[in-house]
Amino acid sequence: MTPLETSQHQASASASPLSLWQQIQEDWQAHERDWTRPGFRAVAVHRFGNWRMTIQPKLLRAPLSLLYQMLYRKIRNGYGIELPYTTQLGRRVIIEHQGAIVIHGYAVIGDDCIIRQGVTLGNRTLEQPLDAPKLGKGVNVGAGAKLLGKVEIGDGAAIGANAVVLNDVPAHHLAVGIPAKVLAPKAMT
Ligand SMILES: CC(C)(COP(=O)(O)OP(=O)(O)OC[C@H]1O[C@@H](n2cnc3c(N)ncnc32)[C@H](O)[C@@H]1OP(=O)(O)O)[C@@H](O)C(=O)NCCC(=O)NCCS
Repeated sequence: MTPLETSQHQASASASPLSLWQQIQEDWQAHERDWTRPGFRAVAVHRFGNWRMTIQPKLLRAPLSLLYQMLYRKIRNGYGIELPYTTQLGRRVIIEHQGAIVIHGYAVIGDDCIIRQGVTLGNRTLEQPLDAPKLGKGVNVGAGAKLLGKVEIGDGAAIGANAVVLNDVPAHHLAVGIPAKVLAPKAMT
């Protein structure tokens, strides 16, 4: 793990005031109390991946890391959800449905965001592989949307289905189309 990954996972793990069990319970409630939902399982494995990094010494952690790697691959290969533990994931994030969901390891997803099938939060070019989107709280990402590069999406923003977002989106605004255009919320127009 690179130093950046280390600091990210520490930030991610220490950010939650909840125990692993409490986090998973909250995620389960957010996913309509259905433990069979792929989205819930993906988030639970992500929480476990972060929690096991807090186990010391490394030798004790080794079997947990092996288990995490197996579960991560099962989620990725079985459900088509790539959610590395280094992604900073807020509380109660919902992954609706499954399939073709790719989340960058350096992406940040705020509390109460919704991610749907076919969503990519990734880098824009191979020249800048570490650039990744940052979502505020309560961002609603439509099916098939692609958010590329170091874009910041403000709290409560909505990203339309199939949008390709290349620029920042202010809080509570909409972004739709290819490339995505930002629209003010209805109440403000
Ligand atoms: C973006 C979204 C949240 C906007 O909903 P809204 O607040 O009700 O806004 P409106 O429907 O009034 O749309 C505003 C404008 O954006 C356009 N628009 C809405 N969604 C769009 C989309 N996905 N792509 C392109 N344009 C879109 C509308 O045509 C409208 O344009 P107009 O003002 O020229 O008529 C919604 O359309 C959307 O895409 N939701 C995704 C939901 C989803 O993924 N569902 C799958 C469930 S499995």
